[in-house]
Amino acid sequence: MLAIIGGTGLTQLANLEITHRQVMRTPYGEPSGPMTFGTIKQHEVMFLARHGYGHTIPPHSVNYRANLWALRDQGAQRVIAVSAVGGIRADLVPGTLVVPDQIIDYTHDRAFTFFDGNEQAVTHIDFTLPYSERVRQELLAAARHAGEACADGGVYAATQGPRLDTAAEVNRYRRDGADMLGMTGMPEAALARELGLEYAAIAVVVNPAAGIGSSTRAIELDQIGPVAQTAMARVRHILECVVECDGAA
Ligand code: HPA
Repeated sequence: MLAIIGGTGLTQLANLEITHRQVMRTPYGEPSGPMTFGTIKQHEVMFLARHGYGHTIPPHSVNYRANLWALRDQGAQRVIAVSAVGGIRADLVPGTLVVPDQIIDYTHDRAFTFFDGNEQAVTHIDFTLPYSERVRQELLAAARHAGEACADGGVYAATQGPRLDTAAEVNRYRRDGADMLGMTGMPEAALARELGLEYAAIAVVVNPAAGIGSSTRAIELDQIGPVAQTAMARVRHILECVVECDGAA
């Protein structure tokens, strides 16, 4: 089954016909909220709001392990994560949708692995290509089908948050090769890989990163909500097409 993790601006899926919700407990604690099951165009989908349904859980407090564990426990094989990002690359202006293909992790002090050594054999996952290429291509094909412009590829830098970045930090991230910044991409992607889930993300650029364009002196925080809202309608359209194109959610 396809699972969708909604981020800022996407705490519910308007096009999801809900069949039931399930409160879950996992060996890692409780996920961000009950799992929502339903159908999009008659195809089964499960949905989880990463920050809780009331958007109350900040990025560093999300129980990523419980979320991913619960999704897999409920039969998810593929996961599409939706997230809001700040744009660094020149073409990643507010309102742009992008399917990243690489990650740099700057987060810290998060529970970032299922393989933490408690009498388990030491386990390493391959993470050369951090996103499922199959799910990335499904997203890009769905975007084409939906007639929604969506950039193919880019380096997602995961920052700790919850504060936004300094201009100097953004310069450093840019020199490192980052194209966009978000606070939730890690450890989510790595945990999905550890569980054998096929995981990819669609990112919505909601602001120019600190020090760039209209964010030269400050990020216009009041602009983020409206930009996210408009762009998430397009994301919903693409998700509908992912489900429809695929036929077997
Ligand atoms: N930086 C980090 N995370 C973000 C940003 C940003 O500018 N915008 C949305 N999430």
